[in-house]
Amino acid sequence: MAVLPVVKYGDSILRKKVNKVDINEIGQLTNLIDDMFDTMYEEEGIGLAANQVGVNLNLMIIDVTHLDEYKDLEPIVFINTEVLQENGSIELEEGCLSIPEIRATIPRAESIVIRYIDELGQSNTTEFNGMFCRVILHELDHLNGKFFTDYLSSAKRKLVHSKLLEIAEDGYPSTGVVL
Ligand code: NI
Repeated sequence: MAVLPVVKYGDSILRKKVNKVDINEIGQLTNLIDDMFDTMYEEEGIGLAANQVGVNLNLMIIDVTHLDEYKDLEPIVFINTEVLQENGSIELEEGCLSIPEIRATIPRAESIVIRYIDELGQSNTTEFNGMFCRVILHELDHLNGKFFTDYLSSAKRKLVHSKLLEIAEDGYPSTGVVL
C-alpha cells in the first residue's frame, strides 16, 4: 500500500474522459484501489477519482462515513459509473484535492440514481442524495475531464484564474481540502 501523488490542475490527464474498466480485469485493480484509499485518507479527502492519481480508468472511491447520516455505510468503490437519473438542484461550497486552496459554491443535483460496478464485480443500481450525491457528481466530473471551477461564471472564474495558473505551473502541494 502506498500514498500516491495527487495530480494537480493543469495536467492533461484531468481534462480527458477516462477509459472504461474491462470488467474481466477488476481483480487486478486491488492494489490500485488500496493505494487510492491510502492517498485519499492521507490528503484528508472524502472522494478520489483514478485520474487524480494519474490512472486513466473509470474508477472512483468515496468515503463519507464521518458524516452522521452515512455512518452506517462502508466506503464505496465505483467502477464504470453511469448516471441514470438526476433530481433537484442545490448550491453548496466545494473544494478539490487537485485544485488546492480554491473553494466555490456551485449548483448540483440533490439526488441521483446511478449504476456502477463494485470492486467485487457486482452491478449496483442505487439512489444517493445529499453530500454523498454531491461527491459522486464531483468525482464523475473528474472522470469526464471536468473541474468544479468550470461551473463558475466568467466573472468568478477571472477571480480564480491566476491561482489556477499558479497551480498548473507549480504542481502546487495539496493542502488537504475535501473532494
Ligand atoms: Ni476533486
